[in-house]
Amino acid sequence: SSSMITLDPGYKNTGSCESAITFLDGEKGILRYRGYPIEELAEKADFLEVAYLLIFGELPNKEQLEKFDQDIKAESHVDEEMKKILDGFPKSAHPMGVLSSLTSALVAFNPTSVDVSSEEAMYRSIVRILAKFPVLVAWTMRKKMGLPLDYGDDSLGYVENIHKMMFKRPNKEYTKNKVVIDALDKLLILHADHEQNCSTSTVRIVGSSHAGLFASLSAGISALWGPLHGGANQAVLEMLQAIQEDGGDTKKYMAKAKDKNDPFRLMGFGHRVYKNFDPRARIIKKAADEVLGDLGIEDPILEIAKGLEKEALEDDYFVKRKLYPNVDFYSGIIYRAMGIPVDMFTVMFALGRLPGWIAQWREMRLRKEPIGRPRQVYIGENLRPFVPLSKR
Ligand code: SDX
Repeated sequence: SSSMITLDPGYKNTGSCESAITFLDGEKGILRYRGYPIEELAEKADFLEVAYLLIFGELPNKEQLEKFDQDIKAESHVDEEMKKILDGFPKSAHPMGVLSSLTSALVAFNPTSVDVSSEEAMYRSIVRILAKFPVLVAWTMRKKMGLPLDYGDDSLGYVENIHKMMFKRPNKEYTKNKVVIDALDKLLILHADHEQNCSTSTVRIVGSSHAGLFASLSAGISALWGPLHGGANQAVLEMLQAIQEDGGDTKKYMAKAKDKNDPFRLMGFGHRVYKNFDPRARIIKKAADEVLGDLGIEDPILEIAKGLEKEALEDDYFVKRKLYPNVDFYSGIIYRAMGIPVDMFTVMFALGRLPGWIAQWREMRLRKEPIGRPRQVYIGENLRPFVPLSKR
């Protein structure tokens, strides 16, 4: 009977699984991937290493990392027919919707990717999507910008290759900017996993029906799109720009955020788990200062963001609700400095989260988790007989 069911909307206090991948402590602002602190990984590791760590559980040695890199490069071809699907979208299409569709469409061109019945088959599907997703990301952005779509350059590292695919201009030399590549690598590491957040739970529950990896990832991309989740990094920049156009009047937006009748939220603030600072926000804020400094960019938007943070930390509405800047608050300022269009910000989040989604999906399948099927408390009508149309 429904009295046996404990209701927990939003699963605020429900553990959906056991996992050995990511540990976070919301009170202490701790985040670790497979036991390694995020601060160390962000400083000392590179994104491909972190992807391997999350998925397979250990930091790779030289040979393992080399093989992983080569296996990914061997799969970097995306079927040219996929461009026909991309062509079907209007330029105004949001890149997250395009990417979710393309990721699902990839199955049609990689039918064996649904087979994960052996470690080898699972590994092949994993390196395929790690190789092809960045190409789809670059194609999606360049399509909107009316630029030719091309493949990467196998002589480059994983993140530099992504950056080149996104930014290489026709008949112009591509010159690597180490500051930008290092910052992008760090941002991707900081977004790589975050235990059972909305989009990861989505990837898990879709995969729990034994839908394929690519279909599960496509669902995760859709969940991440929402402005309460990954879509917040785009919403933050739009909010900061609105404040800037409004003469930098942060007080007006703080009041809107506190007004119960106003649906406006201070985007980039608050978190379900972090009730103290978000360790990623701290690192990204510092990186924003460094990157803009190194690039010689004075962005008034960064000052507005810092002003908002300062006000919120002194405002008892926010302090009482333990609302602090989260991972999405400063990240867009760096993406903007890199020349990434604002509607591509959440795509950058998805690019970073890809290895985390894969790791969580793989763990769920290896542990043979049951199909996800929550219960409910029924509050609808009691039993009643059908009424024919003539009597309604
Ligand atoms: C991510 O889960 C993850 O780990 C996610 C993520 C990841 O790495 O995967 O960390 C990435 O999604 C970060 C969050 C990005 N979202 C935003 O920045 C959007 C703004 N934030 C909020 O919508 C909200 O804080 C959430 C969605 C992040 C958390 O929502 P909760 O835990 O359900 O909290 P809530 O909505 O119940 O809010 C609690 C109270 C409410 O006030 P009361 O009804 O108690 O009076 O705090 C208020 C809310 O109104 N509140 C805010 C607010 N966030 C919460 N008020 C103003 N501005 C905000 N940003």
